[in-house]
Amino acid sequence: MVMKTKLLFFLLLFASLISSSLAKGSLQQTLNSSEKFDDCSNASRTRHLLEDESRAQTSVDLAQGYMSNDDLERAIKEFGQRCSNISRIYSIGNSVNGFPLLVIEISDKPGEEESKPAFKYIGNVHGDEPVGRELLIFLANWLCDNYLKDPLVKLIVENVHLHLLPSMNPDGYSLRKRGNANNIDLNRDFPDQFVSINDDEDSRQPETRAIMNWLRDIRFTASATLHGGALVANYPWDGSEDKRTKYYGCPDDDAFRFMASIYSHSHYNMSSSKEFLGGITNGAEWYPLYGGMQDWNYIHAGCLELTLEVSDNKWPNATELPILWRYNKMSLLNLVASLVKTGVHGRIYSSGDGRPLPGSITVSGINYTVTAGKTFGDYHRFLAPRDKYEVVATMPGYKSKNTTIWLDDGPVTLDFVLDPEVSVKGSVLQNACDCDCNSKSTQEFVQFLWGAHLEVFFILIVILGFLLLLFKRRTKVKFPTSRPLAGSKRTVEV
Ligand SMILES: *[C@@H]1O[C@H](CO)[C@@H](O)[C@H](O)[C@H]1NC(C)=O
Ligand SMILES: *[C@@H]1O[C@H](CO)[C@@H](O)[C@H](O)[C@H]1NC(C)=O
Ligand SMILES: *[C@@H]1O[C@H](CO)[C@@H](O)[C@H](O)[C@H]1NC(C)=O
Ligand SMILES: *[C@@H]1O[C@H](CO)[C@@H](O)[C@H](O)[C@H]1NC(C)=O
Ligand SMILES: *[C@@H]1O[C@H](CO)[C@@H](O)[C@H](O)[C@H]1NC(C)=O
Ligand SMILES: *[C@@H]1O[C@H](CO)[C@@H](O)[C@H](O)[C@H]1NC(C)=O
Ligand SMILES: *[C@@H]1O[C@H](CO)[C@@H](O)[C@H](O)[C@H]1NC(C)=O
Ligand SMILES: [Zn+2]
Repeated sequence: MVMKTKLLFFLLLFASLISSSLAKGSLQQTLNSSEKFDDCSNASRTRHLLEDESRAQTSVDLAQGYMSNDDLERAIKEFGQRCSNISRIYSIGNSVNGFPLLVIEISDKPGEEESKPAFKYIGNVHGDEPVGRELLIFLANWLCDNYLKDPLVKLIVENVHLHLLPSMNPDGYSLRKRGNANNIDLNRDFPDQFVSINDDEDSRQPETRAIMNWLRDIRFTASATLHGGALVANYPWDGSEDKRTKYYGCPDDDAFRFMASIYSHSHYNMSSSKEFLGGITNGAEWYPLYGGMQDWNYIHAGCLELTLEVSDNKWPNATELPILWRYNKMSLLNLVASLVKTGVHGRIYSSGDGRPLPGSITVSGINYTVTAGKTFGDYHRFLAPRDKYEVVATMPGYKSKNTTIWLDDGPVTLDFVLDPEVSVKGSVLQNACDCDCNSKSTQEFVQFLWGAHLEVFFILIVILGFLLLLFKRRTKVKFPTSRPLAGSKRTVEV
């Protein structure tokens, strides 16, 4: 039984968006719509202001027109002030040379834990690939300026927690080189499934450690990093088991191909690539690499990550940045929005007391597990549209449940209510675990009392009674009047 109330809403929304999304024709329309271009004039004004300063510092060179690290920090902080009601600025650590790794979170409830999916973009992983950091500042400003006007932006702000780390490698940027200040390629510094030489977390670079700790903190559903030097959307695996260059797909190959295609087909011309069919590529088929961030995200953080190569030229003339932004704008927006426009979302509850469970979600035929959150029991499973998926929810101490969904053209909301595993002598209607625990501890307590001296016991009872009396007079004890989640709105229960 699958009822899709949210689906209707998304369908309506999607229909209204069709003109502004995937089609390239409409992108062209956007490209010469001067009205829309003006919307980011505030952002560009800030940029140009800062540009003059950096020009004073550096002579004519490659960096001209690009934000320096100080400029970037200022731009992020200014953004945080200008757009304070839908954003939050925070740092996930420092680079080797002490630059803060600042993140912009965009959401209508920034910093609050909610049962919504989280998405992240990371720019400037390689120091000499600075386009990404500029694009993410454009993106932040675009979201802020159009939040009340554009339904796609509204959808993102209201349904996703979007985190933007414009620069993961500020030191490499200021040194104009690929690696960080210690000359380590950060996209080779993660633990790898096939190469075990760098599994010791303490020997990682501070930038890498910052990312790893960040992912332990926030449950991201999907993400992408921005690189330069090619024009393609790259998906896992990045490495192959036998180290050969060949197509080496991960369990979620379909989902990743779908996800990468959203980016390439929303882009001005990525999908018309002559080198990569459809503008997408499997990482290992292009060239295998080990210690990359993408594979680590998928394996260890439950996060589906793409590596996006957004311009053939790693360090194009800064005058091209506004054009690059316009080429990538719909891709950046549509990729985030795809998180809520497809996939299965829902919560896992206990049938015993209605409380949310941090259970696991798997999909038959795909060897991958997504975990639900501790606070809300919410899960978000990105999947490519397909006729049927069998979704299984499990939680230790509870009986698993599964159900079949049809994921043709929109997201499905699917909640699970799991029954505790009943012990042999447990009664049918009660929560077997609670029941067992209670009776066991009561028994032990009584045995303990009989073993003790009766005098002590008596005095204790008197003191306890007195305290209880005092307590009753002074406070009005409040009991929860209803089971918090049992009566909440649910689209599907299985
Ligand atoms: C948009 O630009 C394209 C190519 O630059 C041009 O052919 C088209 O006429 C322009 N459309 C509008 C509405 O200005
Ligand atoms: C741009 O900034 C000016 C003042 O600095 C403000 O009045 C205007 O509303 C801003 N425009 C947008 C689209 O945010
Ligand atoms: C943010 O501010 C705008 C304008 O002041 C307001 O209309 C909007 O509701 C606010 N959004 C949130 C999420 O508070
Ligand atoms: C995409 O357009 C840019 C700018 O016009 C051009 O330099 C590049 O070669 C194009 N790439 C593809 C794959 O068409
Ligand atoms: C960037 O392009 C502008 C305008 O086309 C040109 O004046 C400038 O010399 C270029 N800068 C570099 C570093 O090539
Ligand atoms: C599923 O993946 C795990 C690693 O995540 C692996 O150890 C296991 O062998 C795989 N199972 C199957 C049936 O492929
Ligand atoms: C799904 O549930 C049915 C019966 O409830 C069971 O027979 C089947 O094995 C389950 N499938 C999975 C993948 O757990
Ligand atoms: Zn790169």
